[in-house]
Amino acid sequence: MSSTIEVKNLAKVFRVPEKSPGLRGALSSLFFRKFREIWAVKELSFSIQKGELVGFLGANGAGKTTTLKMLSGLLHPTSGQVQVLGFTPHQRRIQFLKQISLVMGQRSQLWWEIPAQETLKLNKEIFELGDSEYQETLSELVEVLELQECLDIPVKRLSLGQRMKAELCAALLHRPSLLLLDEPTLGLDVVMQKKMRQFIREYNQRYRATILLTSHNMDDVVALCDRVIIIERGQMLYDGELNRVVERYAPHKLMTVDFQSVVDTERVAALGKIVSNGGSRMVLEIPRKEVSSVASRLLSQFPVVDLTITETPLDDVVRRIFTRTLEK
Ligand SMILES: Nc1ncnc2c1ncn2[C@@H]1O[C@H](COP(=O)(O)OP(=O)(O)OP(=O)(O)O)[C@@H](O)[C@H]1O
Ligand SMILES: [Mg+2]
Repeated sequence: MSSTIEVKNLAKVFRVPEKSPGLRGALSSLFFRKFREIWAVKELSFSIQKGELVGFLGANGAGKTTTLKMLSGLLHPTSGQVQVLGFTPHQRRIQFLKQISLVMGQRSQLWWEIPAQETLKLNKEIFELGDSEYQETLSELVEVLELQECLDIPVKRLSLGQRMKAELCAALLHRPSLLLLDEPTLGLDVVMQKKMRQFIREYNQRYRATILLTSHNMDDVVALCDRVIIIERGQMLYDGELNRVVERYAPHKLMTVDFQSVVDTERVAALGKIVSNGGSRMVLEIPRKEVSSVASRLLSQFPVVDLTITETPLDDVVRRIFTRTLEK
């Protein structure tokens, strides 16, 4: 069977007008418009199978939202191929739209001035849902998302968390088999974030829905995604198991050593880089391959009381990937 999402050498270039400063610049740009090209997405290839829940990560401006917009057909790719559920997204066929949903944390699909209920009714018509099907899905969503008191209040008066839940309700009314979530927990409090994560996981498992989600919140990613795709400046940086990100991008392990008494810092520093020094407790950064030899040297040369070896925390690694300060 073919993949739910199949992307090959996908690229999106935005042409933005370049303005020269001053009146003269403004005048000349009226006649000779100069453009600058922004390669938001560049030669991106990946595929996602039915039922997968994949994290789509990258620094600000890496090209995540642009990619999701191309996958949902809101944007036309500059080059490359995209197949989603067997369709070409930007053709926006109704059969395609009926099976997908794009939820963006920063942008609302609900009408601001009227209660969410009205938008839901409109969606019912757009997606040609039958009365009983609509009622059934709606009451289920209202219950799970605890939306009982929210649907008849104008959307602009809802709290951010309530609005996000109403947003999700509108996005799921037609039970899409592919869900593209762009920062679904943005601005939510910790309790709401947890509920949202639980809901996303359940939706994935219950309907074998395919979910691709972007987030800057590591808790979302760790809780939900076994697989992550990390992009940098529109290009693929990593595609694989979340667990292996650490292995691949953190060449060091951390060694916490408790000494019986204060030891000579310089002698310890000869064995590895000291990242924190609390006198009788030090944390060393040791290249993976040297961990066992350094440990045995420490034990034989110093009065060691305790020694623990840990991985660099995952969020540290991802933060380093995002801030592009990776060790080579
Ligand atoms: N409509 C547009 N016109 C011009 N440039 C754009 C447009 N949309 C996005 N870009 C540019 O494309 C690049 C990728 O933007 P995109 O929104 O996809 O990033 P992102 O990974 O979603 O970032 P964030 O984490 O901040 O949401 C950025 O440099 C952005 O400025
Ligand atoms: Mg974005």
